[in-house]
Amino acid sequence: MKHIIPYIAILTVLFYAIFNAYFKKHSSKTVHTVSKSYAQHVATHTVPHVDEALSRIDTPEYTRQYITDIINHGSESLHFKKNEVMEKGFVSKQDAPKVACYVSTLAGEKCDYAKEASLLYASNCAGCHGNDGKGVHGSYPDLTRRPLLGIEMRKELLEHLRSKH
Ligand code: HEC
Repeated sequence: MKHIIPYIAILTVLFYAIFNAYFKKHSSKTVHTVSKSYAQHVATHTVPHVDEALSRIDTPEYTRQYITDIINHGSESLHFKKNEVMEKGFVSKQDAPKVACYVSTLAGEKCDYAKEASLLYASNCAGCHGNDGKGVHGSYPDLTRRPLLGIEMRKELLEHLRSKH
């Protein structure tokens, strides 16, 4: 009897690994338009929270926070380019909100940005997104688009969640 214990242990580990791989594949399919953690975060929300997020999602403040988050965490969920993601940390965490403030003015929004912000943008972001924020030759996301791509995806997810309740 004792000798089957290792086999049972191996089978359990195998089963767990297969289950996990399947589950991961499955869940990434359903949330591939937004980052996984955001989808998980939202899934814990109740209806008033979803409504509250939807009521703020088109505001310049929400957009600036989103831009700050992308700078700090990077982006790989927009699938804008096949083989390229945006690395995190092109500017420091301290500078990220300043640059986000500057970026929003490229879209015609009012924001009182720190004077170093335009230089930080020019030297760390403009190479891909262009001095005017519209994306060099359309090959990088247009930062003056409203809503931004990631925000549009969040909106769809939130509206979908609300319709389920
Ligand atoms: C090396 C090129 C490169 C640089 C430099 C770069 N980005 Fe990006 N950025 C990208 C790519 C590629 C994407 C799309 C990523 C994806 O598909 O998820 C992106 C996406 C974004 C988005 C999301 C746009 C949307 O519509 O949702 C924002 C905001 C953004 N970048 C801001 C910045 C800012 C601000 C800087 C400078 C601090 C910067 N980026 C520097 C390549 C770059």
